[in-house]
Amino acid sequence: MKRRNILLAAVILPAVMAFSQQYGGMWIPTELNEKEMKDLGMKISAKDIFDPAKPSIKDAVVQFNGGCTAEIISPQGLLLTNHHCGYGQIQKHSSVGNDYLTDGFWAKNMNGELPNPGVTVDFIADIKEVTGAVLAGTQKLDGKNAEDLIKKNIERVRAGFKLEPWQKVVVKPVYYGNKYYAYVIETYKDIRLVGAPPSSIGKFGSDTDNWVWPRHTGDFSMFRIYADKNNKPAEYSKDNVPYKPKYFLPVSIKDKQENDFTFIFGFPGRTTEYLPAIAVEKIMTDIDPAMIGVREVALKTLNDKMRADDETRIKYASKYASVANYWKKWIGEVEGLKKSDAVGKKKSYEKMLIAKNPQIKPTIDRLNALYAEQAPYALNRAYYSEVSRNAETLSLANQYINFIQSYEGGKMTDDVMTAFKNRLAGFYENYSGELDAKVTAELLALYAEKTPEKFLPANFSQLKDVQKNIDMVENWSKQSVITGRGSLNGATVTSDINKVFANPQVLIANLKNDPLLQWAGAMRNSYLTTTETKYNELQNEIDALQKTFMAQQMSTDKDRQFFPDANSTLRVAYGQVKGSNPRDAVYYGYQTHLDGVIEKYVPGDYEFDVPAKLVNLYNAKDYGVYKDKTGSVPVNFTATNHTTGGNSGSPALDAHGNLIGLNFDRQWEGTMSDINFDPRFSRNIMVDTKYILFIVDKYADAKWLLNEMKIVK
Ligand code: ARG
Ligand code: ASP
Repeated sequence: MKRRNILLAAVILPAVMAFSQQYGGMWIPTELNEKEMKDLGMKISAKDIFDPAKPSIKDAVVQFNGGCTAEIISPQGLLLTNHHCGYGQIQKHSSVGNDYLTDGFWAKNMNGELPNPGVTVDFIADIKEVTGAVLAGTQKLDGKNAEDLIKKNIERVRAGFKLEPWQKVVVKPVYYGNKYYAYVIETYKDIRLVGAPPSSIGKFGSDTDNWVWPRHTGDFSMFRIYADKNNKPAEYSKDNVPYKPKYFLPVSIKDKQENDFTFIFGFPGRTTEYLPAIAVEKIMTDIDPAMIGVREVALKTLNDKMRADDETRIKYASKYASVANYWKKWIGEVEGLKKSDAVGKKKSYEKMLIAKNPQIKPTIDRLNALYAEQAPYALNRAYYSEVSRNAETLSLANQYINFIQSYEGGKMTDDVMTAFKNRLAGFYENYSGELDAKVTAELLALYAEKTPEKFLPANFSQLKDVQKNIDMVENWSKQSVITGRGSLNGATVTSDINKVFANPQVLIANLKNDPLLQWAGAMRNSYLTTTETKYNELQNEIDALQKTFMAQQMSTDKDRQFFPDANSTLRVAYGQVKGSNPRDAVYYGYQTHLDGVIEKYVPGDYEFDVPAKLVNLYNAKDYGVYKDKTGSVPVNFTATNHTTGGNSGSPALDAHGNLIGLNFDRQWEGTMSDINFDPRFSRNIMVDTKYILFIVDKYADAKWLLNEMKIVK
């Protein structure tokens, strides 16, 4: 009953944003609200979670390769993260003969683990608030001068840390520059692949189920951190030894109950919770729909071809997944913003703030004016960046234009040239010029259609006819060197890239005559001159005001517990295991089971196939200790933890700090949580540790890994 009241209040009253801590929030681990966590059921202390002086849970949590999160689950540096986080590495080790993406990979012992040069994990050794030192002396300065002094102060702060040779310090702003924190980071560089299930488990449901609950995905993979013989970071060497962590997470296979306390410990990437109503409105009505529209066109054409042709399917698998990922997220975000009346609530909140503190009115008035003035530029920017990203011909052309500029500007050293050629060669491996010509033609038509005349280069309005475009772009593409279809010096960029680049002057002369580069160049120039400069000018002013607005919100709304927007630093989100009520009369349970995998099973389907061995385990009900009270194996579950991109791979922990799940997604109806967390629909989705261990044990037969872990029954 009490919970119901709070929920109702959250729906009706804007003032309830004061409940943000209870529902949502990504907290800096040195500033946890221990009392509320304990009220919700936590049995450990804030010090158990983060203590720079002695081993604590934070010593088991790392940022994985700069993007995802991972955690240590054995005294020998065994690392758990998502399948989609290790995807690139699994793909790199795969070949037609050893297709680990399709079949999975399991090292038989440590000697069988596979090195991944370039992959890193970051530990956070310490966090210090350094606001005073960073902002010292800046109060009376404005704009550029304040910025310069802040930069100097940050350097001084960094130099003040006594570091070990393997440590570095990074200083980051939070609350739009109202506060600063310093992070002491240790980076390990020898990270080996230990195991991954087949995609039919690790990516089960693929794009159709992505962002969707109920979910049945075993989205996990395992790596191991290696160190030198002193347990310190080292480049890959066969002499390196498994890293001995200060702390590792015990893995719980206890049954879960709805309302159990849980927290997520990881590296959320970016959220924008404190924007004015006008900014949210623009995202909802302008920016997201523009980006969705561009991707829709690209995805449709790619998908048609991928379904018809296996080679294209494989080449575009990973690109398609990443384009589709945010396409789908933005659709959910727009729906959720509308449904939760995010703009209406923010507007009332602003009224409430102004009533308490009239000084806020000029800030909001000015922000309203700035966003209105910026709107056409912001919209063009959204179209331009999405079109030039998804029309690969344009992004290629832009790279070659940069090459010409840096060559002619005398900046093209041998190293830069080699790096450029290597990057291109990698790109061409997964590229189809013919397919791309079609996508590019369609997106150019869309750009010409959606862009006001004053932002378009001369002649661009003739691109509005899709069919004419397709013929025209195909003609250019067929003859162009940059698509790998036209040749120079008797070679193409796909057959022998070095030969094409053998005489850069000859290449540049050819490129300057290439209509693809000419159109791309015209488009870029007109974008830069008509849009970007103006957009940035307005954005700088918005950023400065957003800092003021943030400070005013914090000083005026005393009831609200503020947490800083995500910025890829270590955070704790806490909540409860919980189902949800996303639509009238629709109730989602908090847990899915293996039976649901079988319900979704479509033999031979590219998204919903199930490996025969898993079907056999299901038929034999060979579940061992991994079944729960229902008699089936739990697969995924949801909770009210506030998470975002970057939290993938984060540990979900219970009241005792045991690992109970692996975060990997959010529920579609709640993805507006990046802008407006709503307790009714915002849920994070995790793989149940029981499913992970079941797959490792019964499916992969990798018992040697289980023996390393501390399993809590
Ligand atoms: N939606 C999840 C996240 O943003 C998982 C993405 C990976 N899966 C996929 N089908 N693309 O990253
Ligand atoms: N799937 C996301 C990730 O890869 C997590 C999320 O956005 O909820 O980090």
